[in-house]
Parts: sequence; structure tokens; C-alpha cells
Amino acid sequence: MAVTAVVGLQWGDEAKGKIVDLLTDQHEIVVRYLGGNNAGHTVVCNGQTYKLSLLPSGILRDSVVSVIATGVVINPKALLEELDSLSRQGVEPGRLLISDRAHVIFPYHLAEEAALERRRGEKAIGTTMRGIGTCYRDKAGRTHAIRMGDMMRPELFRERLEDVVAQKNDILRALVPDHEPLQAAAIYDEYMQYAERLRPMVTDTTAFLHHALKQNSSMLFEAAQGSLLDIDHGTFPYVTSSNSSGCGIHPGSGVPERVIEKMIGVVKAYTTRVGGGPCPTELEDETGQHIRDEGNEYGTVTGRPRRCGWFDAVATGYGARISGVDCLAVMLLDVLSKLDELKICEAYEIDGERTTDFPSHIDELARAKPVYRTLPGWKKDITGVRKLSDLPSAARAYIDCVGELVGAPVEIVSVGPDREQTVRG
Ligand code: GDP
Ligand code: IMO
Ligand code: MG
Repeated sequence: MAVTAVVGLQWGDEAKGKIVDLLTDQHEIVVRYLGGNNAGHTVVCNGQTYKLSLLPSGILRDSVVSVIATGVVINPKALLEELDSLSRQGVEPGRLLISDRAHVIFPYHLAEEAALERRRGEKAIGTTMRGIGTCYRDKAGRTHAIRMGDMMRPELFRERLEDVVAQKNDILRALVPDHEPLQAAAIYDEYMQYAERLRPMVTDTTAFLHHALKQNSSMLFEAAQGSLLDIDHGTFPYVTSSNSSGCGIHPGSGVPERVIEKMIGVVKAYTTRVGGGPCPTELEDETGQHIRDEGNEYGTVTGRPRRCGWFDAVATGYGARISGVDCLAVMLLDVLSKLDELKICEAYEIDGERTTDFPSHIDELARAKPVYRTLPGWKKDITGVRKLSDLPSAARAYIDCVGELVGAPVEIVSVGPDREQTVRG
């Protein structure tokens, strides 16, 4: 494999981390190109569990160069804590490069987000409260933005930070009347310590990736979040603030999408969603709770219970089309093993009309009634299966139905969290 991309096709947590880890040994460079420490990727190998958030999953192999590219928003404190925690777990990270064009998350981003979410009350987006949206807002707005490259220039950084913090205090005072002013000098001192530790890793990652492409190096693009959380194409405003579908690879890394030879769409065998926004196949009953329990569906980042439901082929098919996937990896199939029968949503009925198009407005999505295809369960433990032909026929029929309705062939099936618990065609 030369240039490969792994992208989630639902609302995140599709087990992208496991697939990236599996493919990492076939690639020299792993690139994370969007999001920040809102992501939570769990990788299980050799009996050890690793929780990654900002770091590309390639970091677990010392032969791989990991790149945090331009589209990522970086909380330097969180990044250093993650590196320290991996080293406590005995991981000798490979080389890590960080884009000097990536934007930096500051304490005022977290304070602003907390105030804005509180104000929305019941309509809160349900963010991870990591300052992701407010940092991307400043990036798009430009006037309050600070990038890694700025942080590497102490005088310029001090000047810029003083100006931005003064303005942010005004904004925060308007949002929160008893706001305690943030001190630019204290933030500067703290962030300069981070800057000094990160300095050897900060570079022009776009140039690095283009040199690597010229030398035919193999590269794996690791997505965070999922296609339905994409700022432009997802269930707005209940989305994250970046292009988290396949559409984000080019802007997030500076590498044109046409060099990608294989785009792998990762899907869960059912649906989960964290935070607000419509989710047509959500099950607020004991089946939903059963899936939550069997799949241990609690967020890695915030610990929130994930909303669970049947597989939604309308939503996922849309995710697959906007991301342009070549094939699917169907994950967590084992979680469904105890159910008597299973349902897959093959169409929506909206105001009496049947459609397989995914609505562009959440008002319509909230009115969508799932039209289900019912399939028999397999009622067998499949966690030890390693060959497609050894899966029970009902499980194979389920996988075939997912592939058919989403419109892409299934190449990988996952039957447990471990690297080994993987079934390939
Ligand atoms: P990501 O954000 O897309 O990387 O996914 P998460 O790591 O947030 O969530 C996926 C969870 O499912 C993790 O805890 C994985 O260890 C776990 N997992 C991955 N594949 C399987 C599988 O096939 N079966 C089960 N039961 N768990 C899995
Ligand atoms: P991984 O990479 C699942 C969701 C949040 C919230 C919305 C906006 O682990 O798949 P944000 O903090 O980004 O402004 O929150 O997006 N969200 C995720 N849900 N998996 C993720 O990442 C997510 N990252 C953000 O729950 O609904
Ligand atoms: Mg996750």
C-alpha cells in the first residue's frame, strides 16, 4: 500500500484507531490532519490498551514517522501530557513532526466554549469542551488566531498574545459578567515552556510530506471524528468544526486527494452518537442499552454514554459518498452477537415520502422515520473467527447487506478490540 486514507463514515468512534494501527506496519508515515483532543482513539495490542487523542496512532510503532498536520488544532499541554503518558506506558515513540501552520488552543478558547454552550441550554451542541470550535472559529476569523509557528517566535508571540488576551477578556466579560480576567503574562510563561519542548518537532509538514511523496514513501492518513460530523456536509450545527469526512484530507494536510490510492471507510456495525442532534435509528430502550453495554459505548474523551441504535445505511451511505470510499471496514460486529434479530435502516420516510437521500437540514432529519430491513441474528460468539468463511451465515448476510446498502465492498470485519481479532476476505 502506498498512499492510504482511513475515514469514519458515521458520527465518530467507528474504531478508526484500530484500523489505522493495523495498517500502520505497511506505511512509513502516518498523518493526522484534523480535529484536536476532542478525538479519542483506543488501540489494543499485545494485551495493552492505548488511548490516543491528538497523537496519530502511528506513534505506537517506532519505525513510523507520525505527522500532526496543518488542519489539526493543538492544545500543547494536552499533547505533552499524552506523550508523557505514553512514555509511562513504556512506548518509545517514533519520530513526531508538528505543523508550524497548525493553530493553537489557549485557555480562553475553553472559557468561551463553556460560556457559549451554557447559553444554548437545551440546544447545546454537546461538545467535548476542549476549545475545538472556538479555536477553529479564530482560525477562520484570523484576527485572534495564533499558530504553532507564532509560538516558536517569542517576541512576536508575546505581542500577539497580549493583544488577543485583552480582546478575549472583553468578549468573555460580555458573555460571563463575573469573568475573572485572564493574564497574558502567565499564559505566555506557561506556553513558552511548552514551546521549548515542542520546538524540535515543529516544522513545515507540508514540505516534508511532498518530499516524501517524491521519494515514493508510503503514507497513511488518519481521520478523527466522522463524516456526519463534517462542518460542511454533516448534521449542522451538531457537528465538529472541521472537515471530518474524506473532504478534509487535502485542506488538512496540503496533500492533494488524487494521490490517495485507497480510501477506507470505517463503520460500526450499528450506530452511535455522542452529543446533541438528530439520530434517526437511536434506540432509547433496552436494545439500545444492550448495545451500549456489550460495546462498552462510553466516550473515551468525556466518559459520556454514547447514544446507540441500529445501523443507518442512509446516513452511512451518504458519509461514504461524500468521502469517496473504495471499501469498508465493518467494526464491532461481535457486539450484535446476542440479539435474536437485527435491523438495518435502508430508507427514511419523511412527511410520507420515502427517500434514500440524506436530508440537508436537521429539521427534516429529525422528522425522518427509519424504514427497516430485518435480518436474523447469529447468536454465536464470533470473537475467535479469523476467516470470512468461518463467520456464521447470518453474520455474513448482515455484512453483505451493509455493503450493498452503503454501496462499497466490505474488505475488513472486526470481531473484537485486539489487533488479532480481525477478519479479512
Ligand atoms: P475511534 O475514535 O474511531 O478510533 O473509535 P474509539 O476508539 O473511540 O471507539 C472504538 C472502541 O471499540 C474502542 O474502545 C476499541 O478498543 C473498541 N473496538 C474496536 N474494534 C472492536 C471490535 O471489533 N469489537 C469490540 N467489541 N470492540 C472494538
Ligand atoms: P473520534 O475521533 C465522536 C462530537 C462531540 C459533539 C460534536 C462537537 O474519537 O471519532 P467538538 O468538541 O468537536 O466541538 O464537539 O462532535 N465529537 C465526537 N464524537 N467521536 C469523536 O472523535 C468526536 N469528536 C467530536 O461529541 O457532539
Ligand atoms: Mg473515539
